[in-house]
Amino acid sequence: MVGFRDQPVLLLGLGGVGRALVQQIVHTRQRQQQRNKLHLRIIGVVDSRSARLDLSGLSDQALLEAVARKTRDLPAFDTAESWSVADLPEDTILVDTTATEAVVPVLLEAKQRGLGVVLANKLPLAGPLAWWDALADERSRWETTCGAALPVIRALNTLLDSGDDVQRIEGALSGTLGFLAAKLEAGAPFGAAVREAKALGYTEPDPRQDLGGLDAARKALILARMLGYRLELRDVQVESLYPAAMDALSLDEFLQQVDALDEPLRARAHALTDGGRKLRYAAEIADGCLRVGLVGVAPESKLGSVRSTDSVVVFHTRYFSDNPLTISGRGAGQQVTASGVLGDVVDLARALQRIAH
Ligand SMILES: NC(=O)c1ccc[n+]([C@@H]2O[C@H](COP(=O)([O-])OP(=O)(O)OC[C@H]3O[C@@H](n4cnc5c(N)ncnc54)[C@H](OP(=O)(O)O)[C@@H]3O)[C@@H](O)[C@H]2O)c1
Repeated sequence: MVGFRDQPVLLLGLGGVGRALVQQIVHTRQRQQQRNKLHLRIIGVVDSRSARLDLSGLSDQALLEAVARKTRDLPAFDTAESWSVADLPEDTILVDTTATEAVVPVLLEAKQRGLGVVLANKLPLAGPLAWWDALADERSRWETTCGAALPVIRALNTLLDSGDDVQRIEGALSGTLGFLAAKLEAGAPFGAAVREAKALGYTEPDPRQDLGGLDAARKALILARMLGYRLELRDVQVESLYPAAMDALSLDEFLQQVDALDEPLRARAHALTDGGRKLRYAAEIADGCLRVGLVGVAPESKLGSVRSTDSVVVFHTRYFSDNPLTISGRGAGQQVTASGVLGDVVDLARALQRIAH
């Protein structure tokens, strides 16, 4: 059919986001055909324990069975077939919904071959600049690395393409830290707030992964690199909400001793919220520097006026000066993230078609 694209796709990772993505691909086939003249042919699925490659395309039934197995914490397939990037068609899109750097060699090889790459995994893009240089090109998309499906990366690309001058970016990019900041602002003890966030499933199994601020720093680093800042993660000023010495504790010990942080964080929150300011855990990118940490903001400001658990990114630019461009909303969740990944796959499939012609 003229203009119809049969797009080969290989999926790396079948965790919460990867499984939601498979279901969305299967359930939106008609929409992709009618609206986008596109068929997504899933030629491979890989998790940490199993892999299957079928260049003619895995059936929807096989894909949904793989999802059902993963939901029961089994490998997606009984066997781990060996496969290599060299086996893949040259117009393949690799989709990385893993949460590991172990996939970087595969991604770099795919790039060397000119394949497309869609990343939900921020680790490769926030790794050494050499990875960024190899991965962040016109055949890659990474919308969900920064605020899930919120169109933050698209907006920034549009600003950069249009010749606007992005002078400063502010962002609150962690729902977990937003929740804790709101608790601190309301005067709750930090230790109790951490345990509550963990019980509600807002934190990683080990809350230190959130409290250290590195996840927020990686998201901000990706935005900064898009602006052309040649920064490494070590260049980011990161305020951790716990002292490094507590890294030596077991998880149980940490959860028992976290109340020791109540007083210092109460004092810090009190100082920052003086005069009715709101407490946020935010990133600021300006003048070649990048900082993430607690800040006090005016209640009527862009950062202060969104729900603390939502994500928000504010672009201060030459043309958006008195009323900066602001994108906010739900910035996490498996289904919404998967929808953002699917949007990236469709967008990249269209771009690859244009490049091919
Ligand atoms: N959840 C959100 O709200 C959200 C929002 C934005 C971005 N993200 C990003 O999306 C990614 C996926 O998140 P998630 O919650 O789905 O993570 P997850 O549940 O931990 O799933 C990770 C998947 O990666 C697989 N994996 C690990 N090592 C692998 C390897 N070497 N090769 C192939 N697959 C491998 C795992 O396999 P096994 O199943 O065999 O362990 C698992 O299926 C993360 O990078 C996360 O930061 C998530």
